[in-house]
Amino acid sequence: MYKIEPVNIRNDKLVILDQTLLPGEEKYIEMDRAEDIYEAIKSLRVRGAPAIGVAAAIGIYAVLKSSGAEDKTALAKKFNETAAFLRRSRPTAVNLGWALDKMTARMEDACAHTGDADELLATLKEEAVKIREDDIKACRSMGEHGLTLLKPGMGILTHCNAGILATAQYGTCLSPIYLGQEQGYDFHVYADETRPLLQGARLTSWELSRSGVDVTLICDNMAATVMAQGKIDAVVVGCDRIAANGDAANKIGTMGLAILADHFNIPFYMFVPTSTIDLDTKTGDDIVIEERDGEEIYKMWYEKPMAPEGIKTFNPSFDVTPHRLITAVVTERGIVKQPYMQGLRIIKGPF
Ligand code: MRU
Repeated sequence: MYKIEPVNIRNDKLVILDQTLLPGEEKYIEMDRAEDIYEAIKSLRVRGAPAIGVAAAIGIYAVLKSSGAEDKTALAKKFNETAAFLRRSRPTAVNLGWALDKMTARMEDACAHTGDADELLATLKEEAVKIREDDIKACRSMGEHGLTLLKPGMGILTHCNAGILATAQYGTCLSPIYLGQEQGYDFHVYADETRPLLQGARLTSWELSRSGVDVTLICDNMAATVMAQGKIDAVVVGCDRIAANGDAANKIGTMGLAILADHFNIPFYMFVPTSTIDLDTKTGDDIVIEERDGEEIYKMWYEKPMAPEGIKTFNPSFDVTPHRLITAVVTERGIVKQPYMQGLRIIKGPF
């Protein structure tokens, strides 16, 4: 597996690999200003549900550490302002709010026990580092569970990027590919390009090929053809938020693949750390879908605009796959199958 650290802490700052520059340039940037961290999440310099959560946790610590706030009241005020601000950066991935909630709980608990600013900051740093380390463990574990569903030689289709770059390490749905590779499995991965932001082309095909995994890039509209040709034995995708009934939001285009997989009788596996299970959201209808600038569709990657100036656009960044199309949900605690209403509640548990 290629050595990449998409999100980490260094010199008390948030450090991320700037994913907007990939695959051309591998550049790490350090941040400790709330505005920069907000911009990095919003513009997908750091992206992928788990990585966004880790970035927010380390980010809020970095902002407080550099704030110059010297007492508990000033730190608490800065904490609340920053958490509310970062929470607004992207709406669909639940991990952002989940990580900020964890940091908030730890901050409140620490404030109840101490008035010492250094101690408060040390506690926040400890929690942020733990959120990152737990993500690495969860991803490794999802890989182990996911590998039990796959066999050597399989053709595997994936969408967007739910790999190393989308997490602190390993990835979610690409984790079994890397663990399989360690054991000598010869998977053939098909990455679809994932219009409009091309996470499949720019990120998934980059990290898999750097890691020595056999990967073939296709356009989004070729998925049906590769399935019809018998090249695909399983579809694996990540998830940004799964509702209590198992309806699951992921990158726009995921639902289309699930419908195709159902048509061709191919298993469709969704990889979901328990931090991405949102039992407070009842069904997919309650998930807020981020809409992004139309320029991403017709202008961003082209030397000249590829549509008439002023064309109307619609650019939803995610879609919701109905639970009945998901063959299994792979979490770090095990694999959940239908009925999801019951299974997700049990696996999320009172942990
Ligand atoms: O808009 P992005 O690139 O952040 O979308 C990412 C995805 O849709 C991923 O599949 C999802 O966050 C899961 S990442 C392990």
